Amino acid sequence: MDFSLEQQIKEFKKQRNTAKNATICYAPSISLNFDQSGDITACCFNRSFVLGRYPDNQLMDIWEGEKIKRLREALENDDLSLGCQQCERYIKNMNFEGVLIRHFDDHAPLSPLWKEKEKWWKHTFPSKSKKDFFAYPVMFEFELSNQCNLECIMCGGKWSSAIRKNRENQSAIKSPYDENFVGQIRPFLPHLKRANFLGGEPFLIHVYQDIWQDILDINPSIEVAITSNGTVLNPRARKIVEQLPNCKITLSIDSLQKDTWENIRRNGKFDILKSNLEWLISIGKVKSFSVCPMIQNRYEIPEIIQFCVDYDLDIYFNTVNGPLGGKIEGIHYSLDSNHKEELLPEVALSTLSENELLELEKFYLAHSFKGKYKKALNSLIFQIENWRIKKGVYVG
Ligand SMILES: C[S@@+](CC[C@H](N)C(=O)[O-])C[C@H]1O[C@@H](n2cnc3c(N)ncnc32)[C@H](O)[C@@H]1O
Ligand code: SF4
Repeated sequence: MDFSLEQQIKEFKKQRNTAKNATICYAPSISLNFDQSGDITACCFNRSFVLGRYPDNQLMDIWEGEKIKRLREALENDDLSLGCQQCERYIKNMNFEGVLIRHFDDHAPLSPLWKEKEKWWKHTFPSKSKKDFFAYPVMFEFELSNQCNLECIMCGGKWSSAIRKNRENQSAIKSPYDENFVGQIRPFLPHLKRANFLGGEPFLIHVYQDIWQDILDINPSIEVAITSNGTVLNPRARKIVEQLPNCKITLSIDSLQKDTWENIRRNGKFDILKSNLEWLISIGKVKSFSVCPMIQNRYEIPEIIQFCVDYDLDIYFNTVNGPLGGKIEGIHYSLDSNHKEELLPEVALSTLSENELLELEKFYLAHSFKGKYKKALNSLIFQIENWRIKKGVYVG
């Protein structure tokens, strides 16, 4: 490890709400991520250090296996070389807000949530020692399928079955997760604190509805976090969402204007989204908006922030560098001899001209928000400024 990375890691650790001697990342000590291919890893940033696969391995064997132990040991030594390069890049760039590691800190030893778990642990298993804390994961992250009804302009076939079929003309990805998987998850539920559900569109993924029902029956106190496009809520899903006491939904909403929204979220009907949004807000289940600032909606961002202020919702901005999975010839652009023709609209703000970026920065700076909303908008402005400055260098 070079000295500067060591220093940056030290700086990063200072900002964390964990014990001084904390491992650099608790993900493999407390969490598992299930990817649509069947790969099981410690988190969604680390896709290369695969700990095991469903259905080839049993979950408990993975949790107690040699590979996960190697990863835990590496992280205890601040070694990010076993697939953790994305977090390493964030740390090197001093982007401490974006590091996924923080996501696990709330559930790490000495955090308030951990204290709560400690109390529960002592009460439930009085004869077991403290090292048995790691006997079960406390977080699961499910990305079990790409089943999705929409064909958003910034998305790709790995995330949306509709895009894969209609835009990319590829055969469907078969998710390996089945009833047996739901059965393997069951013994872990009494120990779980949080479960994240991603997709695809979670409300279209049948196996999720079975897991939610099990959570309701076995341990309804689990925090159930669902990231949804908000366009599909069947009666069974509505009932489960209503009943789950700790269900927190993040809605991916890039516009509150029908025309813009329908131009981005292709196949979607804005009126349906609106009525689902109203219902979810009325039952208090929406926690936040996840927004993709893009060329198409760039002047609507303050309006979306104001909505979040009015309804006391958190807001997160995704950095859109282009369509998920990258641009594909014949789908996003055609090469007609020397002429490149865009077949789908460009989405990335970074492709705007220096002047357009400057104009956007000024537009955002003319809006004032407080607290977390100000912080969110400022980091978007900072990102745009960086793109503009880089262009200035290239142009010059
Ligand atoms: C792939 S979606 C899956 C969940 C669900 N279908 C949804 O739209 O919320 C997860 C998140 O990725 C965001 N997203 C989509 N395309 C993106 C892109 N090109 N860059 C960054 N984030 C993107 C979505 O807006 C959403 O918040
Ligand atoms: S962003 Fe979400 S809703 Fe849109 S196509 Fe991708 S997975 Fe589906």
